[in-house]
Amino acid sequence: MPEITVRRLSQTFGTAKVLDQVDFTVPDGRFVTLLGPSGCGKTTTLMSIAGFHTPDAGTIAHGDRVLFDAAGRNLPAEQRDLGVVFQSYALWPHLTVAENVAFPLRIRKAGRIEMKHRVADILELVELVPRADAYPHELSGGQQQRVALARALAHGPRALLLDEPFSNLDARLRDRAREWLGELQRDLGITTVFVTHDQTEALAMSDRVLVMNRGRIVRAGTPEDVYQRPGSRFVAEFLGRCTFLTGTARKLDGSAWLLEAPHLPGGLPFHALTPPPPGPVTLALRPESLLLDTPAAPGAPTWQAAITRATFLGDHYLYTLRVGPHELQALSPRRLPEATVQVTVAPESATVVTDDPDHFPIEDPAPSTPLDTFDNVL
Ligand SMILES: Nc1ncnc2c1ncn2[C@@H]1O[C@H](COP(=O)(O)OP(=O)(O)O)[C@@H](O)[C@H]1O
Ligand SMILES: [Mg+2]
Repeated sequence: MPEITVRRLSQTFGTAKVLDQVDFTVPDGRFVTLLGPSGCGKTTTLMSIAGFHTPDAGTIAHGDRVLFDAAGRNLPAEQRDLGVVFQSYALWPHLTVAENVAFPLRIRKAGRIEMKHRVADILELVELVPRADAYPHELSGGQQQRVALARALAHGPRALLLDEPFSNLDARLRDRAREWLGELQRDLGITTVFVTHDQTEALAMSDRVLVMNRGRIVRAGTPEDVYQRPGSRFVAEFLGRCTFLTGTARKLDGSAWLLEAPHLPGGLPFHALTPPPPGPVTLALRPESLLLDTPAAPGAPTWQAAITRATFLGDHYLYTLRVGPHELQALSPRRLPEATVQVTVAPESATVVTDDPDHFPIEDPAPSTPLDTFDNVL
């Protein structure tokens, strides 16, 4: 199955620029997620690929088939060979499960026997054979979501587009649905574009995450890359809890730098392949890279911190700490008995982030897991 390429996709509604030169590739057989806050343009992008929305400008291709371009090519949705699951499942309420799944085959004028076999196979795949004759209102949310997926897969699409398919499920069902969809996608090897505003979902499911903000892709990479090296304060905060420390950067050797700031004795060592921009530098630290009451690694700073809040989160505690004027967030599996604690920072965990919206490192600064080697990891 070929790759999907989206080039310079743009859309303006009135004076609002909803898509601003959106550019990305979904490699063959991969699971790529558009992640971003509500209103950032995810659905508009997905529906442009699906053919349910005509963008102002750009090019969309699937392998060597052009789906949309500025020269006026605009393939109708039903000729694009894509399976789409909408945010609302959009099942036909008056059709049974089997009839809903058969619908895309019917509009493509499949023969009766072929349709029967195909529907049986797909219902088997989504584990809904016993509910074939039920109506949508007789199903749970999770089952309805599987019918929507079955319907999207029924005509044997060459790629799958999913718009927040789990947003109507409760937390426990959502976890199961994620695992289940992940397995199905890998088994089928179908190229998938997934849309969500949920960072946990994006990190857990994707080969590659594209973080969107205000109509632009502001960071692209593997889940580990975008989480550990967000590049900007926006991406750092959107992907999870984060502490920011601002100070002055002093160059040591090679790519080694030291952030110096008042009340942080010894400063904070960090690595940067390209020199940070002049002026104050901000480093991002994930809570799991702040280690509490742990001997410091050589060269790592140790700070005395006051615990200002402890929140029990089930499998760990989240601590809010104060070092001078700086507020830090740290995780620990233990309930700490004292009001103060020694904090040290795991080596190579601090990373430079910028506030400048026009200074996003769009490609991975140092991809740790090239997509080509992903099969070895999965
Ligand atoms: N048909 C439309 N007319 C005007 N504005 C629209 C239309 N569709 C979407 N928008 C606006 O475009 C922006 C992006 O919408 P959308 O792609 O649905 O975002 P997301 O899926 O990321 O929440 C939003 O501000 C939305 O209000
Ligand atoms: Mg949306």
